Amino acid sequence: MESILAVHGVSKSFGGIRALDGCSLMVKKGAVVGIIGPNGAGKTTLFKIISGFEKPDTGRVIFNGEKIENMASFEIARKGLIRTFQIPKALTKLTVEENMLLATQFQYGERIWDVLLRSAEVKRQEEASIKKARALLEFFGLLHLKDEYAGALSGGQKKLLELARALMAEPKMLLLDEPFAGVNPTLAMRILELIKELRNSGMTILAIEHDMPMIMQLCDHIYVLNKGKVIASGTPEEVRANEQVVDAYLGGV
Ligand SMILES: Nc1ncnc2c1ncn2[C@@H]1O[C@H](COP(=O)(O)OP(=O)(O)O)[C@@H](O)[C@H]1O
Ligand SMILES: [Mg+2]
Repeated sequence: MESILAVHGVSKSFGGIRALDGCSLMVKKGAVVGIIGPNGAGKTTLFKIISGFEKPDTGRVIFNGEKIENMASFEIARKGLIRTFQIPKALTKLTVEENMLLATQFQYGERIWDVLLRSAEVKRQEEASIKKARALLEFFGLLHLKDEYAGALSGGQKKLLELARALMAEPKMLLLDEPFAGVNPTLAMRILELIKELRNSGMTILAIEHDMPMIMQLCDHIYVLNKGKVIASGTPEEVRANEQVVDAYLGGV
């Protein structure tokens, strides 16, 4: 299968700290790929570079055949590469549904006069957005909370809202930063099932995760990052069997 995302030799330093050191990886269309590695390995920095929140010092990022390493984050999002955050970014003073609708705002923002005139086309788009938002909220078990302030949700519900909101933009590929962090085991299983359903519907996913059992269950392919370098990659079984990985990171799992 063709690759939808390719990272080639990306390096990034912050002052004297080499966060990424010639990092390369590839994600095939429809695959679920995981990145694991100890704290400070460079995982979040890699996500920031892929999603345009940081620029690499050297190296290239190709998404859907296009160079994106110098694009702004909103341009990359518009191309269908959507990122979620380690700490959910829900806007607490807006309702759950408003948070969902905000994810599509930029589509109207381009044509502000249409918004002012509330043309039939804009109205139709808004109605379609509401319909989509409610369908997604239902999929994530949040529909009954649509009129609650996002700030009133539990940590786990915020995590689900973050995922639901990412899907509003109808991404071609999702970047998930620690989707299981800070959620209880029951919710973690639910998120695992939801991500599997997304995969079954053809979504491509790259996920950073600390939770080894989860990432082993979820991923087709895993990259192990240590000190800004990929030190191993392969299927979950191959990674588990790799002695270097077990020593450096897994601690005998
Ligand atoms: N904006 C920044 N300024 C300075 N140092 C940073 C910055 N972002 C990350 N780093 C450093 O880069 C290294 C990699 O960090 P990070 O990508 O957050 O790792 P991970 O997500 O794997 O825990 C760490 O040493 C971190 O302190
Ligand atoms: Mg991180």
